Amino acid sequence: MAKIAFIGTGNMGSALARAASKAEENSLFLVNRHPEKAVILQKETGGCVTDHKTAAENADYLFLGVKPRMLPEVAKTLSPILQAMETPPVLVSMLAGTEIRQLQQNLGTHCPVIRIMPNTPVSVGEGMILYCCSDLVCTEDETAFLEAMRYAGRFIKLEEHLIDAGMAVSGCGPAYVDLFVEALADAGVACGLTRKDALLLAAQMTLGSARLILEGGQHPGILKDAVCSPGGTTIQGVRKLEEKGFRSAVMEAVIAAYQA
Ligand SMILES: NC(=O)c1ccc[n+]([C@@H]2O[C@H](COP(=O)([O-])OP(=O)(O)OC[C@H]3O[C@@H](n4cnc5c(N)ncnc54)[C@H](OP(=O)(O)O)[C@@H]3O)[C@@H](O)[C@H]2O)c1
Repeated sequence: MAKIAFIGTGNMGSALARAASKAEENSLFLVNRHPEKAVILQKETGGCVTDHKTAAENADYLFLGVKPRMLPEVAKTLSPILQAMETPPVLVSMLAGTEIRQLQQNLGTHCPVIRIMPNTPVSVGEGMILYCCSDLVCTEDETAFLEAMRYAGRFIKLEEHLIDAGMAVSGCGPAYVDLFVEALADAGVACGLTRKDALLLAAQMTLGSARLILEGGQHPGILKDAVCSPGGTTIQGVRKLEEKGFRSAVMEAVIAAYQA
């Protein structure tokens, strides 16, 4: 059984809290600057709305779900609480672009830290969550953390220096896929489909294609070739995408996000 506290129950904090609540053995503590959001989440998750001190003192895992620019303010509150504890909780930081070292400097303490980089599909249990651990995180804590958060999606452990690269792919990626699906649906409407049908076709096709790659284990180039019959229609679509620089545009988007 894991006791999990969330400081900041905004978009990402609440998505992760909902995922944590699906594992019945977890108990949740919810803290938000304006408590209304935490109260709504409490009704959904059965967690307990509380303050920073109670959350920190009771949690095995203390999630930080505030915006990176809010870190100094939240650190001012949390720092004395954590420093006074003999065995502080494992901090779980989702703050984009904030290294473990910066977090420890702000908090003035060397708590064990798991740095995660989730994405919005966490809210439907299909998240891609990148993570890395500070030296003080023991194997038992890491294993128990992954077990407690199993309903959030897939987890992959990366070296900390690769988290920002991963973020540019899976953290920003939902926005790129949304653009792609929207464009497919627009084109479907242009060809006569209803908006509702066009969106369903585009989204279900994207889901199915992703599952084929993940579950079949074949390179996407082979899967693409399998759809392109000689002299057929799909290869004409592929030709047009190449002419418009589709693959280059996607690569440039990811690299621009990484360098931002
Ligand atoms: N959204 C994403 O796709 C995504 C992806 C990866 C990582 N992240 C990371 O997730 C974090 C949260 O992002 P978000 O999009 O969920 O932002 P958000 O919706 O603005 O949530 C931030 C929450 O923190 C609360 N808060 C601020 N200061 C606080 C304090 N001192 N004590 C307690 N709660 C406090 C805010 O409360 P009030 O509303 O009352 O001010 C708000 O509910 C960020 O660090 C971001 O980098 C987000």
